[in-house]
Amino acid sequence: MRPFVPTPRGPLSSALAARLTDDEQLATPDLAGVDVLTDDDLHLALWCCYALHYRGFDGVDDALEWDAQILAFRAVLEHAFESALRAEHQAVTTPEDPLVALRVIGTWAGPPLSRMVAEIGTRDQLAEFAIHRSAYQLKEADPHTWAIPRLHGPGRSAMIEIQADEYGQGVPGESHAEIFAAAMEQLGLNAEFGHYIDRLPGTTLATDNLASMFGLNRRLRGALVGHLALFEMTSVVPMSRYLAAARRLGGLDAFEKFYEVHVEADAHHGELALNKMVAGFMETEPDLAADVIFGAAALAKVEARFARRLLTSWQDDRTSLRPGLNDLLGLDLASKRV
Ligand SMILES: [Fe+2]
Ligand SMILES: [Fe+2]
Repeated sequence: MRPFVPTPRGPLSSALAARLTDDEQLATPDLAGVDVLTDDDLHLALWCCYALHYRGFDGVDDALEWDAQILAFRAVLEHAFESALRAEHQAVTTPEDPLVALRVIGTWAGPPLSRMVAEIGTRDQLAEFAIHRSAYQLKEADPHTWAIPRLHGPGRSAMIEIQADEYGQGVPGESHAEIFAAAMEQLGLNAEFGHYIDRLPGTTLATDNLASMFGLNRRLRGALVGHLALFEMTSVVPMSRYLAAARRLGGLDAFEKFYEVHVEADAHHGELALNKMVAGFMETEPDLAADVIFGAAALAKVEARFARRLLTSWQDDRTSLRPGLNDLLGLDLASKRV
């Protein structure tokens, strides 16, 4: 089952949707005044461009994956997003050796989202968190897989070992994406890929777009290696906190499984990613050292914005999701969050 084209939420996503569904001409986008790191409309449009390379959309011609107008449109959004991330990265000082720099970046303290969820998170907040993560987690590992044909040598072997675990060693139902889908269903959520995209703000879509941008541009393979490495290196602590939240709330064994798998696997993946994947990649492509560090730093910054949005919303006692159809219609349904 393929997702529907999301509801446009501004000029960028409107123009793209018109191209996807009505074959309208797609002009060069105007990004004047747009906060390209967080903008809801820009990140939805970019997410839709990338979606054509994964599962596509219901009712949209698969051939549009290589539509010249969409690719040109996407390139403008990507260039703006990447440039803003690089400008942000240049503002910080990190060691030049990726093996050292990634350990430093791994210590950067983001907003304490996982700690809050572990200590006082409610079942509704856990469900909301799962909705946010669904954009990435229901296709977990896929963006990094794009890099496999682009790497060679021991770094590639280490990446393949990590990815094989993410895909559950090929056992049906055991890929992390499928385990996450089961966890969503246990929370009473819809686990179909793309179901909640309309509810996801730019700060959330940016986390997914970052991985797709790095994965789908061969020139950014160094950044993708850094992204995956930091992802694995910094996973165990937050994953164990979400696991603690699930155990405290009870009755969420599928949810617990998702986090148990990560706590166990990522203790190994973190070491493997840094000492084999990054180290091996540096043997074959030393010129991309700075990009490895950039990819890791960008992940840390994008994740911090994601976490801040959730925390500040919950501190103000409101949802961190965009309004749903029920909210827009003014219906006060108990399930309005989903
Ligand atoms: Fe995983
Ligand atoms: Fe992992």
